[in-house]
Amino acid sequence: MKKILIAYYTQSGQIKEIIDQYISVFDNDENYQIYYHRIMPVNDFSYPWSDDSFYDVFPESVLEKGCELNPMPQELIQDYDMIILGLQVWYLSPSIPITAFLQSHDFKTIASNTSVVTINGCRNMWFMSQQSVKNYLSAVGAIYQGHIVLFDKVNNLLSVISIIHWAYTGKKEKKWGIIPMPGISKEDIQSAKQYGSLLKEYWQSNRLDQLQQAYIENNGVIVLPHLMSMEHKAKRIFKIWTHFILKGEKISPKQRRFRLQLFKYYLLFMIYLLSPIATLIFYITYPLFYKRIRKNIDFYQGVSNKG
Ligand SMILES: Cc1cc2nc3c(=O)[nH]c(=O)nc-3n(C[C@H](O)[C@H](O)[C@H](O)COP(=O)(O)O)c2cc1C
Repeated sequence: MKKILIAYYTQSGQIKEIIDQYISVFDNDENYQIYYHRIMPVNDFSYPWSDDSFYDVFPESVLEKGCELNPMPQELIQDYDMIILGLQVWYLSPSIPITAFLQSHDFKTIASNTSVVTINGCRNMWFMSQQSVKNYLSAVGAIYQGHIVLFDKVNNLLSVISIIHWAYTGKKEKKWGIIPMPGISKEDIQSAKQYGSLLKEYWQSNRLDQLQQAYIENNGVIVLPHLMSMEHKAKRIFKIWTHFILKGEKISPKQRRFRLQLFKYYLLFMIYLLSPIATLIFYITYPLFYKRIRKNIDFYQGVSNKG
């Protein structure tokens, strides 16, 4: 009997829907026992978000400062054959509860020397957060076996509007009846089942070392190169803003709030004015940087260790 632990955090339930599809091939199979752990902050983040709370988590997300979590129930602290981690991205970093879990003593205890697969369900910018997750896995001695990333395939400029609508209302619906549905499409959520099947197949045939390649070939880790390039630049800028905001906090809580407001307008300016120009330049100069871009794609897809 193989034991699988599914650990996840979710606000809307989206990542749980993906996991349910992914794990369905193991259901009713007496060779596998499935355990669930829902990661829970002691003070969970309010959902739906308010405008203030949505931006307020920015600096701590970027700095990967975890929050206090409810400890794992004692009966779940045991040896597993496989851990599946369902996560999401906040401000180009693992969400704060996921960061806290990856940094926790509980995770270290269960993940050391244990196989881990990660499932990321995000908007579309996930590259550096994935790398962070991999670093945490390696820090606790976990055996990374693979990752899939499901994301919103709608145009980047529209998905910002739709995801904010979703985050602020908690409703996965078309804003004004015209902006596309937010989040990961139903079809993509259902597609997660094939990645669970691949895990089972490669695990049973002792070929887990080829699992990630199979995920890539089956579109489990699609890299949109212009978003990857944009994210590298955005991350650098996010760090500068984080320090600026935290310096403000040292002056007064009011300064923190004021600087977060400035960041909010800057973010919108960056997304709607700078990013279309950056994308255009990116594709015009694409051939010049092809080798470097290819190297980064391989890195984020998990085929190489150097980006
Ligand atoms: C505060 C916040 C920041 C987010 N930042 C990003 C991001 O940088 N990149 C991205 O692809 N998705 C981002 N998302 C979307 C989430 O990764 C995720 O898809 C969405 O919140 C649904 O997750 P859930 O399973 O917790 O409901 C963000 C969401 C929130 C709430």
